[in-house]
Amino acid sequence: MTNTAPTKKVDMDTMVSLCKRRGFIFQSSEIYGGLASCWDYGPLGVELKRNVREAWWQAMVHQRDDMIGLDAAILMHPQTWVASGHVQGFSDPLVECKSCHLRWRADDLKGSVCPSCGGELTEPRMFNLMFKTRMGPVEDEASVIYMRPETAQGIFVNFQNVLNTTRKKLPFGIAQTGKAFRNEITPGNFTFRSREFEQMECEYFVKPETADQWLKYWLEERFNWYLKLGMRKENLRLRQHGKDELAHYARDCYDVEYLFPMGWSELEGIANRGDFDLKQHSAASGKTLTYFDEEKGEHYLPCAIEPSAGVDRSALAFLLDSYAEEPDKDEVRVVLHLHPRLAPVKVAVLPLSRKEPLVAMAREVHAGLRCCFVTQYDDAQSIGRRYRRQDEIGTPFCVTVDFQSIEDKQVTVRDRDSMKQLRVPIAELQKVLSAKLCGEAFDTGPLWAAHGEQLA
Ligand code: GAP
Repeated sequence: MTNTAPTKKVDMDTMVSLCKRRGFIFQSSEIYGGLASCWDYGPLGVELKRNVREAWWQAMVHQRDDMIGLDAAILMHPQTWVASGHVQGFSDPLVECKSCHLRWRADDLKGSVCPSCGGELTEPRMFNLMFKTRMGPVEDEASVIYMRPETAQGIFVNFQNVLNTTRKKLPFGIAQTGKAFRNEITPGNFTFRSREFEQMECEYFVKPETADQWLKYWLEERFNWYLKLGMRKENLRLRQHGKDELAHYARDCYDVEYLFPMGWSELEGIANRGDFDLKQHSAASGKTLTYFDEEKGEHYLPCAIEPSAGVDRSALAFLLDSYAEEPDKDEVRVVLHLHPRLAPVKVAVLPLSRKEPLVAMAREVHAGLRCCFVTQYDDAQSIGRRYRRQDEIGTPFCVTVDFQSIEDKQVTVRDRDSMKQLRVPIAELQKVLSAKLCGEAFDTGPLWAAHGEQLA
């Protein structure tokens, strides 16, 4: 179900405003003036984010035999980050303007002067992006720990635990989702670059000689995941990292890029990390982290292929990609053509009046649906305005209960994308909506032949 609505690129300010107005995303600690580059997800945002995360988990873990899940702690032994190279190498070059004192990432700058005031810049110095904190009541150097900058290390340090408990054979993967923290020098573009964000990462362990082939496999698999969830192909591309861009652990890496309002930017990174991490942790901990290959009769360190995506960045890209402004009679409707799997609300129940016995019937219809779908009950203002409100948050279907419903025990179902309508017996509503939400075309089937064409 790819988004085929007419393309009109939405700018970031419009999206920020929609997200705030409709309760998707708020500035963190807004009543205190906000905390830079941290975001709170409102009632609709939290559903969208859950749906993104669950769609990923389903595709990466539940639908595969070769993948298992993990949920490691955010706080890890500080040696983890020494061994992984993050204490030494997880840094960006920082320059400061000598006049206005704004700070910039040197590798992001086009010219050699301050982009804000044109002032002279200092020489670059390396700035480590990890947040430091302390564990326990004693404030000495020994108590320093880090907020994890990637979830991946939780996977590597648990490699032997997972192997021992599941007896998996290569190739297999360990997947996890969770918060990560980076003290970014130049956060911005809404949630695109935040200081607290959530990752969806997998380390797929393979025989070393098959690493290139598995990297290709994951490039295709991950690119297609976005397409299957409705993202427009013309807004997605793969880009290989140049040698000078590769992270300290990577042998090869590609980004899935999305055409954000500020230009093509990384949505997900897919890297061949080789055996870098297992080797480093093995050396630093003194523990054996090799895999015993029964066929070869050998112990060796497998290579890790890492598809690493962001929940927040994906959610933002899905919102931007689904946004459309479309003519509706004499006006323009704003609609999010979100894939039904991602839409925060699946079905809205709209009683045509606040009078009995219509309300009782609408409440009953709502009660019957909310046990299967995320629903909203909305009885405020005209039906036209209520449709608009649901379109703007991407609700795939609206169910209208009218006076005729009392007589014929049928309701009208309206499709968000085509705005076509279909009369459905209440007794069949759950079944019909389930089929339509799972991708069955709206204007097909016997019900459509009997009742849809007259209404559409
Ligand atoms: N373990 C590999 C790794 O962390 P990365 O390319 O630095 O690789 C992976 O990050 C993904 O995490 C990115 O593609 C992006 O979706 C998300 N991400 C990284 N930094 C982010 C930030 N500051 N704000 C929001 N998302 C971020």
